[in-house]
Amino acid sequence: NSSRTHTDVSHVYRGTFVHSTPQTALQVLEDALLGVDTDGKIAFIGKGSEVDTLSQTFGFSATNITQLAPHEFFMPGLVDTHIHASQYSYAGTALDMPLLQWLNTYTFPVESRFKDLEFANKVYTQVVRRTLRNGTTTACYHATIHTEASLLLGQIANDFGQRALVGKVCMDRNNSVKHYKETSQESQEETCRFIAELLNKKYPRVKPVVTPRFAPSCTGALLGQLGAIAKNNNLHIQSHISENVEEVKLVKDMFPESESYTHIYHKYNLLTDKTVMAHGCYLSDEELNLFRETGASLSHCPNSNISLCSGILNVRNVLKHKVKLGLGTDVAGGYSASMLDAVRRALDSSKVLTIQDPEHETLTFEEVFRLATLGGSQALSMDDQTGNFEVGKDFDALRVNVAAPGGPMDLIQSDAPKILLEKFLNLGDDRNIVEVFVAGRKVVPFTDKNE
Ligand code: GUN
Ligand code: FE
Repeated sequence: NSSRTHTDVSHVYRGTFVHSTPQTALQVLEDALLGVDTDGKIAFIGKGSEVDTLSQTFGFSATNITQLAPHEFFMPGLVDTHIHASQYSYAGTALDMPLLQWLNTYTFPVESRFKDLEFANKVYTQVVRRTLRNGTTTACYHATIHTEASLLLGQIANDFGQRALVGKVCMDRNNSVKHYKETSQESQEETCRFIAELLNKKYPRVKPVVTPRFAPSCTGALLGQLGAIAKNNNLHIQSHISENVEEVKLVKDMFPESESYTHIYHKYNLLTDKTVMAHGCYLSDEELNLFRETGASLSHCPNSNISLCSGILNVRNVLKHKVKLGLGTDVAGGYSASMLDAVRRALDSSKVLTIQDPEHETLTFEEVFRLATLGGSQALSMDDQTGNFEVGKDFDALRVNVAAPGGPMDLIQSDAPKILLEKFLNLGDDRNIVEVFVAGRKVVPFTDKNE
Protein backbone atom coordinates (compact mmCIF):
# COMPACT_ATOMS: atom_id res chain seq x y z
CA ASN A 1 0.00 0.00 0.00
CA SER A 2 1.78 3.12 -1.21
CA SER A 3 -0.18 5.43 1.06
CA ARG A 4 1.55 3.97 4.11
CA THR A 5 4.11 6.47 5.34
CA HIS A 6 5.69 4.33 8.04
CA THR A 7 8.30 1.66 7.45
CA ASP A 8 7.49 -1.94 8.28
CA VAL A 9 6.87 -2.89 11.87
CA SER A 10 9.24 -5.67 12.85
CA HIS A 11 8.46 -6.17 16.56
CA VAL A 12 5.46 -5.56 18.77
CA TYR A 13 5.52 -5.69 22.57
CA ARG A 14 2.53 -5.75 24.89
CA GLY A 15 2.60 -5.03 28.62
CA THR A 16 3.55 -2.30 31.07
CA PHE A 17 5.78 0.58 29.94
CA VAL A 18 7.13 3.18 32.38
CA HIS A 19 8.91 6.34 31.26
CA SER A 20 9.25 10.07 31.82
CA THR A 21 8.15 13.09 29.87
CA PRO A 22 9.27 16.70 30.35
CA GLN A 23 5.97 17.28 32.18
CA THR A 24 5.67 14.05 34.18
CA ALA A 25 8.52 12.38 36.05
CA LEU A 26 6.81 9.00 35.89
CA GLN A 27 4.19 7.99 33.38
CA VAL A 28 2.86 4.43 33.56
CA LEU A 29 1.30 2.87 30.48
CA GLU A 30 -0.50 -0.31 31.51
CA ASP A 31 -1.37 -2.96 28.95
CA ALA A 32 0.22 -0.89 26.22
CA LEU A 33 1.16 -2.03 22.75
CA LEU A 34 4.40 -0.69 21.26
CA GLY A 35 5.62 -1.34 17.74
CA VAL A 36 9.20 -1.02 16.55
CA ASP A 37 9.95 -0.55 12.86
CA THR A 38 12.77 -2.10 10.87
CA ASP A 39 14.92 1.01 11.54
CA GLY A 40 14.63 0.45 15.29
CA LYS A 41 12.28 3.39 15.76
CA ILE A 42 9.06 3.37 17.71
CA ALA A 43 6.32 3.11 15.07
CA PHE A 44 3.32 3.35 17.38
CA ILE A 45 2.24 3.24 21.00
CA GLY A 46 -1.34 2.25 21.70
CA LYS A 47 -3.57 0.44 24.08
CA GLY A 48 -3.75 -3.33 24.25
CA SER A 49 -7.47 -3.06 23.61
CA GLU A 50 -6.73 -1.44 20.24
CA VAL A 51 -4.78 -4.44 19.00
CA ASP A 52 -7.14 -5.18 16.12
CA THR A 53 -7.10 -1.72 14.56
CA LEU A 54 -3.36 -1.30 15.19
CA SER A 55 -2.51 -4.62 13.59
CA GLN A 56 -4.53 -3.62 10.53
CA THR A 57 -3.02 -0.15 10.30
CA PHE A 58 0.54 -1.30 10.79
CA GLY A 59 0.28 -4.68 9.16
CA PHE A 60 1.45 -7.04 11.86
CA SER A 61 -0.04 -10.30 12.98
CA ALA A 62 -1.37 -10.74 16.51
CA THR A 63 0.62 -13.96 16.80
CA ASN A 64 3.86 -11.96 16.54
CA ILE A 65 3.28 -9.95 19.71
CA THR A 66 5.73 -10.43 22.59
CA GLN A 67 3.67 -10.40 25.79
CA LEU A 68 5.31 -9.31 29.05
CA ALA A 69 4.59 -11.12 32.33
CA PRO A 70 2.69 -9.23 35.07
CA HIS A 71 5.89 -8.62 37.08
CA GLU A 72 7.74 -7.34 34.02
CA PHE A 73 7.92 -3.89 32.48
CA PHE A 74 9.80 -1.93 29.85
CA MET A 75 11.63 1.24 30.80
CA PRO A 76 13.87 3.52 28.70
CA GLY A 77 17.56 2.61 28.59
CA LEU A 78 19.81 4.19 31.22
CA VAL A 79 22.04 7.07 30.12
CA ASP A 80 25.45 7.38 31.76
CA THR A 81 26.44 10.97 31.04
CA HIS A 82 29.96 10.65 32.49
CA ILE A 83 32.19 7.59 32.73
CA HIS A 84 35.95 7.10 32.36
CA ALA A 85 36.25 3.83 30.43
CA SER A 86 40.00 3.96 31.03
CA GLN A 87 39.58 3.86 34.80
CA TYR A 88 37.46 0.71 34.91
CA SER A 89 40.42 -1.55 35.78
CA TYR A 90 40.72 -0.08 39.27
CA ALA A 91 37.04 0.63 39.98
CA GLY A 92 36.26 -0.28 43.57
CA THR A 93 39.71 0.64 44.84
CA ALA A 94 41.84 3.73 45.48
CA LEU A 95 39.18 5.86 47.12
CA ASP A 96 41.33 7.13 49.98
CA MET A 97 42.42 10.48 48.60
CA PRO A 98 40.88 13.75 47.50
CA LEU A 99 40.60 14.51 43.79
CA LEU A 100 43.92 16.15 42.89
CA GLN A 101 46.08 13.65 44.82
CA TRP A 102 43.90 10.81 43.54
CA LEU A 103 44.52 11.90 39.93
CA ASN A 104 48.29 12.04 40.40
CA THR A 105 48.61 8.88 42.47
CA TYR A 106 46.20 6.46 40.82
CA THR A 107 44.58 7.84 37.70
CA PHE A 108 47.36 9.22 35.52
CA PRO A 109 49.66 6.18 35.97
CA VAL A 110 46.84 3.82 34.92
CA GLU A 111 45.68 6.00 32.02
CA SER A 112 49.23 6.20 30.69
CA ARG A 113 49.06 2.42 30.08
CA PHE A 114 46.52 2.83 27.26
CA LYS A 115 49.37 3.36 24.82
CA ASP A 116 49.27 -0.45 24.92
CA LEU A 117 46.39 -1.47 22.66
CA GLU A 118 46.20 -4.96 24.10
CA PHE A 119 45.56 -3.55 27.56
CA ALA A 120 43.11 -1.04 26.09
CA ASN A 121 41.22 -3.78 24.26
CA LYS A 122 40.86 -5.82 27.43
CA VAL A 123 39.65 -2.97 29.65
CA TYR A 124 37.41 -1.35 27.04
CA THR A 125 35.74 -4.64 26.15
CA GLN A 126 35.02 -5.27 29.82
CA VAL A 127 33.63 -1.83 30.54
CA VAL A 128 31.33 -1.82 27.50
CA ARG A 129 30.02 -5.28 28.40
CA ARG A 130 29.57 -4.43 32.07
CA THR A 131 27.72 -1.18 31.45
CA LEU A 132 25.49 -2.65 28.73
CA ARG A 133 24.70 -5.63 30.96
CA ASN A 134 23.62 -3.13 33.61
CA GLY A 135 21.31 -1.33 31.24
CA THR A 136 23.45 1.59 30.05
CA THR A 137 22.18 2.00 26.49
CA THR A 138 24.00 5.33 26.07
CA ALA A 139 27.40 6.14 27.59
CA CYS A 140 29.42 9.33 27.40
CA TYR A 141 32.99 8.12 27.74
CA HIS A 142 36.32 9.68 28.60
CA ALA A 143 39.10 7.51 27.17
CA THR A 144 42.76 8.66 27.49
CA ILE A 145 45.11 10.92 25.52
CA HIS A 146 45.87 8.01 23.14
CA THR A 147 44.14 8.33 19.76
CA GLU A 148 44.42 4.68 18.73
CA ALA A 149 43.04 3.33 22.00
CA SER A 150 40.23 5.89 21.92
CA LEU A 151 39.29 4.78 18.40
CA LEU A 152 39.30 1.21 19.68
CA LEU A 153 36.80 2.15 22.39
CA GLY A 154 34.53 3.52 19.67
CA GLN A 155 34.84 0.30 17.71
CA ILE A 156 34.06 -1.85 20.75
CA ALA A 157 30.98 0.20 21.66
CA ASN A 158 29.81 -0.11 18.06
CA ASP A 159 30.46 -3.86 17.95
CA PHE A 160 28.43 -4.45 21.10
CA GLY A 161 25.70 -2.09 19.90
CA GLN A 162 26.00 0.52 22.64
CA ARG A 163 25.17 4.14 21.82
CA ALA A 164 28.22 6.17 22.81
CA LEU A 165 29.99 9.46 22.80
CA VAL A 166 33.73 8.81 22.93
CA GLY A 167 36.30 11.40 23.92
CA LYS A 168 40.02 11.31 23.37
CA VAL A 169 41.23 13.14 26.46
CA CYS A 170 43.21 16.36 25.94
CA MET A 171 45.82 17.61 28.41
CA ASP A 172 48.89 19.71 27.76
CA ARG A 173 49.58 20.38 31.43
CA ASN A 174 50.62 17.65 33.87
CA ASN A 175 53.57 17.71 36.21
CA SER A 176 52.99 14.46 38.02
CA VAL A 177 53.31 11.53 35.63
CA LYS A 178 56.00 11.75 32.96
CA HIS A 179 54.80 11.25 29.39
CA TYR A 180 51.15 11.43 30.36
CA LYS A 181 50.62 14.70 28.58
CA GLU A 182 50.78 16.17 25.10
CA THR A 183 52.06 19.38 23.63
CA SER A 184 49.27 21.79 22.71
CA GLN A 185 49.93 21.10 19.06
CA GLU A 186 49.83 17.32 19.49
CA SER A 187 46.64 17.56 21.47
CA GLN A 188 44.97 19.67 18.80
CA GLU A 189 46.21 17.58 15.87
CA GLU A 190 45.41 14.26 17.50
CA THR A 191 41.92 15.50 18.40
CA CYS A 192 41.33 16.37 14.75
CA ARG A 193 42.69 12.99 13.65
CA PHE A 194 40.56 11.19 16.24
CA ILE A 195 37.41 13.00 15.10
CA ALA A 196 38.09 12.45 11.41
CA GLU A 197 38.92 8.77 11.81
CA LEU A 198 36.00 8.01 14.10
CA LEU A 199 33.53 9.81 11.81
CA ASN A 200 35.07 7.99 8.86
CA LYS A 201 34.06 4.63 10.37
CA LYS A 202 30.43 5.72 9.98
CA TYR A 203 29.33 3.90 13.12
CA PRO A 204 25.62 4.70 13.31
CA ARG A 205 25.47 5.37 17.06
CA VAL A 206 29.03 6.22 18.14
CA LYS A 207 30.17 9.83 17.94
CA PRO A 208 33.29 11.76 18.96
CA VAL A 209 33.19 14.28 21.80
CA VAL A 210 35.76 17.04 22.25
CA THR A 211 37.32 16.39 25.68
CA PRO A 212 39.56 18.86 27.47
CA ARG A 213 40.17 16.93 30.72
CA PHE A 214 39.51 19.99 32.89
CA ALA A 215 40.86 23.53 33.10
CA PRO A 216 43.89 22.67 35.31
CA SER A 217 45.10 20.09 32.72
CA CYS A 218 44.91 22.53 29.80
CA THR A 219 46.49 25.80 28.76
CA GLY A 220 44.18 28.56 27.65
CA ALA A 221 45.64 28.14 24.16
CA LEU A 222 44.54 24.49 24.02
CA LEU A 223 41.09 25.26 25.44
CA GLY A 224 40.65 27.86 22.69
CA GLN A 225 41.72 25.43 19.98
CA LEU A 226 39.36 22.76 21.26
CA GLY A 227 36.48 25.23 21.41
CA ALA A 228 37.13 26.11 17.78
CA ILE A 229 37.30 22.45 16.71
CA ALA A 230 33.98 21.71 18.42
CA LYS A 231 32.35 24.75 16.86
CA ASN A 232 33.63 24.13 13.33
CA ASN A 233 32.45 20.51 13.39
CA ASN A 234 29.32 20.99 15.50
CA LEU A 235 30.53 18.42 18.03
CA HIS A 236 29.72 17.48 21.60
CA ILE A 237 32.02 18.72 24.36
CA GLN A 238 32.67 17.20 27.78
CA SER A 239 34.84 18.11 30.73
CA HIS A 240 34.83 18.52 34.51
CA ILE A 241 33.90 21.59 36.54
CA SER A 242 33.84 22.71 40.16
CA GLU A 243 34.11 19.24 41.66
CA ASN A 244 36.22 19.88 44.75
CA VAL A 245 37.17 22.92 46.83
CA GLU A 246 40.91 22.54 46.31
CA GLU A 247 40.40 22.25 42.55
CA VAL A 248 38.25 25.39 42.45
CA LYS A 249 40.98 27.28 44.29
CA LEU A 250 43.67 25.93 41.96
CA VAL A 251 41.67 27.07 38.94
CA LYS A 252 41.29 30.52 40.46
CA ASP A 253 45.08 30.73 40.86
CA MET A 254 45.79 29.39 37.37
CA PHE A 255 43.27 31.61 35.57
CA PRO A 256 43.34 34.79 37.70
CA GLU A 257 41.77 36.92 34.95
CA SER A 258 38.59 34.84 34.88
CA GLU A 259 35.42 35.83 36.69
CA SER A 260 34.59 32.19 37.52
CA TYR A 261 35.40 28.58 36.60
CA THR A 262 32.40 28.59 34.27
CA HIS A 263 33.59 31.77 32.58
CA ILE A 264 36.87 30.09 31.62
CA TYR A 265 35.06 27.45 29.57
CA HIS A 266 32.65 30.07 28.25
CA LYS A 267 35.49 32.32 27.11
CA TYR A 268 36.93 29.49 25.02
CA ASN A 269 33.58 28.56 23.40
CA LEU A 270 33.36 25.35 25.37
CA LEU A 271 29.89 26.01 26.78
CA THR A 272 27.35 25.11 24.12
CA ASP A 273 24.06 23.25 23.96
CA LYS A 274 26.12 20.13 23.22
CA THR A 275 28.34 20.49 26.29
CA VAL A 276 28.15 18.25 29.34
CA MET A 277 30.22 19.14 32.41
CA ALA A 278 30.69 16.67 35.26
CA HIS A 279 30.06 17.49 38.94
CA GLY A 280 29.47 21.24 39.37
CA CYS A 281 29.16 20.87 43.17
CA TYR A 282 30.42 24.40 43.87
CA LEU A 283 28.86 26.40 41.05
CA SER A 284 27.30 29.72 42.06
CA ASP A 285 23.79 30.68 40.98
CA GLU A 286 25.36 33.08 38.45
CA GLU A 287 27.34 30.22 36.98
CA LEU A 288 24.21 28.06 36.79
CA ASN A 289 22.52 30.90 34.93
CA LEU A 290 25.37 30.88 32.41
CA PHE A 291 24.82 27.14 31.96
CA ARG A 292 21.16 27.73 31.24
CA GLU A 293 21.82 30.62 28.86
CA THR A 294 24.34 28.61 26.83
CA GLY A 295 22.31 25.39 26.96
CA ALA A 296 25.20 23.51 28.58
CA SER A 297 24.34 20.67 30.93
CA LEU A 298 25.61 19.03 34.09
CA SER A 299 26.35 15.42 34.91
CA HIS A 300 25.61 14.58 38.54
CA CYS A 301 28.04 11.91 39.76
CA PRO A 302 27.02 11.23 43.34
CA ASN A 303 29.07 8.09 44.00
CA SER A 304 32.24 9.89 42.96
CA ASN A 305 31.32 13.05 44.86
CA ILE A 306 31.01 11.02 48.06
CA SER A 307 33.81 8.50 47.45
CA LEU A 308 36.42 11.23 46.86
CA CYS A 309 34.84 13.45 49.54
CA SER A 310 34.37 16.09 46.85
CA GLY A 311 31.02 17.55 47.83
CA ILE A 312 27.30 17.16 47.34
CA LEU A 313 25.57 18.67 44.35
CA ASN A 314 22.32 20.43 45.19
CA VAL A 315 20.27 18.94 42.36
CA ARG A 316 17.14 20.79 43.45
CA ASN A 317 18.91 24.10 42.94
CA VAL A 318 20.22 23.01 39.53
CA LEU A 319 16.70 22.05 38.46
CA LYS A 320 15.36 25.37 39.78
CA HIS A 321 17.84 27.12 37.49
CA LYS A 322 16.50 25.02 34.59
CA VAL A 323 19.91 23.62 33.76
CA LYS A 324 19.80 20.30 31.89
CA LEU A 325 20.96 17.50 34.17
CA GLY A 326 21.77 13.80 33.86
CA LEU A 327 23.41 11.20 36.07
CA GLY A 328 26.91 9.78 35.70
CA THR A 329 28.81 6.93 37.32
CA ASP A 330 32.20 8.70 36.93
CA VAL A 331 34.05 5.39 37.15
CA ALA A 332 36.52 5.12 38.87
CA GLY A 333 36.06 8.16 41.15
CA GLY A 334 32.67 6.50 41.46
CA TYR A 335 33.24 2.84 42.24
CA SER A 336 30.21 1.37 40.48
CA ALA A 337 29.72 1.18 36.72
CA SER A 338 26.00 0.60 37.22
CA MET A 339 23.55 3.43 36.69
CA LEU A 340 21.27 1.81 39.29
CA ASP A 341 23.97 2.69 41.80
CA ALA A 342 23.99 6.27 40.51
CA VAL A 343 20.23 6.42 41.07
CA ARG A 344 20.61 5.24 44.67
CA ARG A 345 23.53 7.53 45.45
CA ALA A 346 21.59 10.46 43.95
CA LEU A 347 18.68 9.70 46.29
CA ASP A 348 21.03 9.28 49.29
CA SER A 349 22.81 12.55 48.52
CA SER A 350 19.53 14.40 48.31
CA LYS A 351 18.50 12.91 51.67
CA VAL A 352 21.79 14.02 53.23
CA LEU A 353 20.94 17.58 52.14
CA THR A 354 17.55 17.18 53.80
CA ILE A 355 19.20 15.91 56.99
CA GLN A 356 21.38 19.01 56.96
CA ASP A 357 18.45 21.29 56.15
CA PRO A 358 14.93 19.96 56.71
CA GLU A 359 13.64 22.69 54.37
CA HIS A 360 15.47 21.03 51.49
CA GLU A 361 12.99 19.38 49.15
CA THR A 362 14.24 15.80 48.77
CA LEU A 363 14.30 14.33 45.27
CA THR A 364 11.68 11.66 44.66
CA PHE A 365 12.51 8.31 43.08
CA GLU A 366 10.39 9.34 40.11
CA GLU A 367 12.52 12.46 39.62
CA VAL A 368 15.76 10.50 39.84
CA PHE A 369 14.35 7.90 37.41
CA ARG A 370 13.81 10.76 34.97
CA LEU A 371 17.36 12.05 35.51
CA ALA A 372 18.74 8.58 34.73
CA THR A 373 16.80 8.32 31.46
CA LEU A 374 15.26 11.38 29.79
CA GLY A 375 17.44 13.81 31.81
CA GLY A 376 20.56 12.08 30.55
CA SER A 377 19.33 12.20 26.96
CA GLN A 378 18.60 15.90 27.35
CA ALA A 379 22.01 16.51 28.92
CA LEU A 380 23.64 14.84 25.90
CA SER A 381 21.31 16.64 23.45
CA MET A 382 19.98 13.31 22.27
CA ASP A 383 16.40 13.69 23.49
CA ASP A 384 15.18 14.08 19.92
CA GLN A 385 16.21 10.43 19.49
CA THR A 386 16.23 8.72 22.90
CA GLY A 387 15.22 9.06 26.55
CA ASN A 388 11.60 7.91 26.54
CA PHE A 389 8.95 6.10 24.57
CA GLU A 390 7.71 8.47 21.91
CA VAL A 391 6.74 7.64 18.37
CA GLY A 392 9.67 8.38 16.08
CA LYS A 393 12.36 7.93 18.73
CA ASP A 394 14.73 4.96 18.73
CA PHE A 395 13.62 2.03 20.86
CA ASP A 396 16.31 2.06 23.59
CA ALA A 397 14.83 0.00 26.38
CA LEU A 398 15.28 -2.39 29.27
CA ARG A 399 12.99 -5.34 29.80
CA VAL A 400 12.87 -5.63 33.58
CA ASN A 401 11.69 -8.72 35.43
CA VAL A 402 11.28 -7.78 39.08
CA ALA A 403 10.91 -11.45 40.04
CA ALA A 404 13.78 -12.80 37.95
CA PRO A 405 14.77 -16.29 39.14
CA GLY A 406 17.91 -16.10 41.27
CA GLY A 407 17.55 -12.31 41.44
CA PRO A 408 17.73 -10.13 44.53
CA MET A 409 14.01 -9.62 45.08
CA ASP A 410 11.10 -11.75 46.20
CA LEU A 411 7.71 -11.20 44.68
CA ILE A 412 5.48 -11.17 47.73
CA GLN A 413 2.37 -9.63 46.24
CA SER A 414 1.31 -8.35 42.86
CA ASP A 415 2.30 -4.72 43.15
CA ALA A 416 1.33 -1.80 40.95
CA PRO A 417 3.88 -0.91 38.22
CA LYS A 418 5.00 2.20 40.10
CA ILE A 419 5.89 0.04 43.12
CA LEU A 420 7.68 -2.49 40.91
CA LEU A 421 9.79 0.33 39.44
CA GLU A 422 10.60 1.71 42.89
CA LYS A 423 11.65 -1.74 44.09
CA PHE A 424 13.80 -2.31 41.01
CA LEU A 425 15.52 1.07 41.36
CA ASN A 426 16.31 0.49 45.03
CA LEU A 427 16.96 -3.25 45.13
CA GLY A 428 17.38 -4.55 41.61
CA ASP A 429 20.51 -5.49 39.71
CA ASP A 430 21.53 -6.84 36.32
CA ARG A 431 19.77 -10.15 37.00
CA ASN A 432 16.49 -8.23 36.74
CA ILE A 433 17.49 -6.70 33.39
CA VAL A 434 16.55 -9.61 31.20
CA GLU A 435 16.90 -7.85 27.86
CA VAL A 436 18.47 -4.60 26.66
CA PHE A 437 17.57 -2.94 23.36
CA VAL A 438 19.42 -0.18 21.53
CA ALA A 439 17.63 1.20 18.47
CA GLY A 440 15.35 -1.82 18.47
CA ARG A 441 18.20 -4.33 18.41
CA LYS A 442 18.58 -6.76 21.29
CA VAL A 443 22.11 -6.19 22.61
CA VAL A 444 21.69 -8.13 25.91
CA PRO A 445 21.83 -11.10 26.34
CA PHE A 446 25.05 -10.98 24.33
CA THR A 447 25.16 -12.95 21.13
CA ASP A 448 27.81 -15.66 20.77
CA LYS A 449 29.92 -13.38 18.62
CA ASN A 450 30.33 -11.05 21.58
CA GLU A 451 31.03 -13.73 24.21
N1 GUN B 1 38.86 15.91 37.03
C1 GUN B 1 39.79 15.80 36.08
N2 GUN B 1 40.00 14.52 35.72
C2 GUN B 1 39.16 13.79 36.47
C3 GUN B 1 38.90 12.39 36.56
O1 GUN B 1 39.48 11.55 35.87
N3 GUN B 1 37.94 12.02 37.45
C4 GUN B 1 37.27 12.92 38.22
N4 GUN B 1 36.35 12.47 39.07
N5 GUN B 1 37.51 14.22 38.17
C5 GUN B 1 38.44 14.66 37.29
FE1 FE C 1 35.16 12.31 35.78
